[in-house]
Amino acid sequence: MQRTLVLLKPDALQGGLVGQIISRLEAKGLKMVAMKMIQMDEALAKRLYEIHKDKFFFQGLVEHITSSPVIAAILEGEDAVAVVRKTMGETDPALALPGTIRGDLALDIERNLIHGSDSEETAQREIGLFFSAEETFPYNRDTDKWIIES
Ligand code: RTP
Ligand code: MG
Repeated sequence: MQRTLVLLKPDALQGGLVGQIISRLEAKGLKMVAMKMIQMDEALAKRLYEIHKDKFFFQGLVEHITSSPVIAAILEGEDAVAVVRKTMGETDPALALPGTIRGDLALDIERNLIHGSDSEETAQREIGLFFSAEETFPYNRDTDKWIIES
């Protein structure tokens, strides 16, 4: 089982798309083990996106992600990192396939609604930035036997 960090960016909240986005991830079978609303500050935004610190879009990225609250969640499931990335679609919504969150609900690369960790290693680092152990809730889902063959 793998865990990944998802952020619903300010444009998701402002656009009233939180429910639709969570719904897609939930319907896919991923298990939510943590969720909260948080107003990110500049320091947290810079740590989250530190890999992009030299890119031309860094300042705009930090400004956008701190412009309004975000929803942070940890999703768990087999290959959760890759499954979430597939469900999100390409970074640029213009290239994201129909059927993906970005392909169906977004238009602009700087307003692409959702962040998902890009590797297991990144996921562990990013989960640590947003959640303490006490904010994570492992639990059994009675429906898992209908979703996952064990
Ligand atoms: P994310 O980190 O938010 O999950 O998105 P991603 O992996 O698909 O894309 P990444 O390359 O990590 O870029 C992070 C975010 O920066 C913005 N971006 N803008 N103007 C541009 O060319 C550009 N490129 C990236 C996007 O909002 C992207 O999600
Ligand atoms: Mg990324």
